[in-house]
Amino acid sequence: MRKVEIFDTTLRDGEQSAGVNLNTIEKLEIAKQLERLGVDVIEAGFPAASRGDLEAVKLIANTVKNSSVTGLARSHKNDIDAAWEALKGAEEPRIHVFLATSPIHREYKLKMSKDEVVERAVQAVKYAKERFAKVQFSAEDACRTELDFLARIAEAVIDAGATVVNIPDTVGYITPKEIKDIFSYLKNNVPNIDRAILSAHCHDDLGMATANSLAAIEGGAGQVEGTINGIGERAGNVALEEVAVALHIRNDFYQASTGLKLDEIKRTSSLVSKLTGMIVPANKAVIGDNAFAHESGIHQDGVLKEKTTYEIITPELIGLKSNKLVLGKHSGRHAFKSKALDLGFELSEEKLNEAFSTFKDLADKKKEITEEDLFSILADKQTETVDVSRYELNSVQVQYGTENIPTATISATLPNGDQVTEAATGSGSVEAIYNTIERLVNEPVTLQDYKINSVSAGRDALAEVYVRINHKEIETSGRGTAQDVLEASARAYLNAVNRVLTLEAQQKELQKVHHI
Ligand code: KIV
Ligand code: ZN
Repeated sequence: MRKVEIFDTTLRDGEQSAGVNLNTIEKLEIAKQLERLGVDVIEAGFPAASRGDLEAVKLIANTVKNSSVTGLARSHKNDIDAAWEALKGAEEPRIHVFLATSPIHREYKLKMSKDEVVERAVQAVKYAKERFAKVQFSAEDACRTELDFLARIAEAVIDAGATVVNIPDTVGYITPKEIKDIFSYLKNNVPNIDRAILSAHCHDDLGMATANSLAAIEGGAGQVEGTINGIGERAGNVALEEVAVALHIRNDFYQASTGLKLDEIKRTSSLVSKLTGMIVPANKAVIGDNAFAHESGIHQDGVLKEKTTYEIITPELIGLKSNKLVLGKHSGRHAFKSKALDLGFELSEEKLNEAFSTFKDLADKKKEITEEDLFSILADKQTETVDVSRYELNSVQVQYGTENIPTATISATLPNGDQVTEAATGSGSVEAIYNTIERLVNEPVTLQDYKINSVSAGRDALAEVYVRINHKEIETSGRGTAQDVLEASARAYLNAVNRVLTLEAQQKELQKVHHI
């Protein structure tokens, strides 16, 4: 059985998804879960992109021990230096350097000849190799690059010290047969290929990313790059859980496996979905809510007689438990702590006590507390940041009637500690709340996106609201959870405003350091 390495780029390519904006604590939580899932490499960010990115990569590199941590760099010395600053403390520092190779990119973006591209790539890999033991080189837009040129640059970067050569289908253009042929060609035509691993990086623009990644493995790829839930630029990257489960279920065909702990998939998927605000469609392969639901009478009858008639993946394989009701109103702190550990949350005593008190409040109002509810409470507590100055919601009240103008009244604590109460109207309850918050913050806030999701089933389910806002010329997202949709809406908005304050403070700090 061949081992295929899993390179996760949820925190880099995944974070490039429109509207996704993770803070450092959230990135760290995802990285810790990816380590638990057993991915071989975590691409934690693009250190040269911003000071915030660099610090997040550094924190992850210094925390994660059982997965290798890497960061992206263009083929420039400055980028490679920034990556070294972020990654030098890692257990196994590794860098991911890239340069575009396709004719379109060479002519229009880089304005460089083939020789110049090879020269720049080789110089970058050599410079990186002086610091990093593991150097990955990516030929951006490789799948639209002339095959002989791709082989030439692969050979040159391996000679310069690259240990992994990545072949991205940057625009999601290739077909399974073509990508298999590219990998076979490189295996047969790059003389020093035995000194490096070939890697596939597929985007999903034509919905072929999983098929293409699997075909690349057939052609000789020893590493697959992708993201959890398939998040990423445009239509996203390949969903790693699909590749791993396909290799597991069809190992008779592929004769290859990954080192992933498949029963950590569901938890990883839920955490990424919750923290990014990118909701998983119900019919998504492997992880969607309906992936194990048998609806038609014929299917139900078949499954009752023999599960394998219509079920090729068991829910248990990906860590989906059938017993969803976990704790009740009379459960004590001990049971709560043990369930939290079971769900993978190691909270400090203080955070655990706060989470327990949120659980108790909810248990008074909600009949059944499910694993999803607990997961939501614990993940919120785990990723809660203590901002230096922030708005705190004390109470929200909304008057609504089909014949009245909706009016919201909000009491909040301002960043300077003052307690204030404001009221405003709107054409709907949510708008009235957001108009009131705009008064509280005393500067325009533009709502760019609003999404609402129920955490579990039932009329008394927790509501989770995601918003994207623009405030003080900073675009960011926010999320809020509450049993009431209006309270969740208010919390999400204030959470986004607080993130703007944090980002603004970071920018000011940076300007001070660099005397801008
Ligand atoms: O899709 C792509 O080409 C990339 C590279 C930076 C590896 O993400
Ligand atoms: Zn990509």
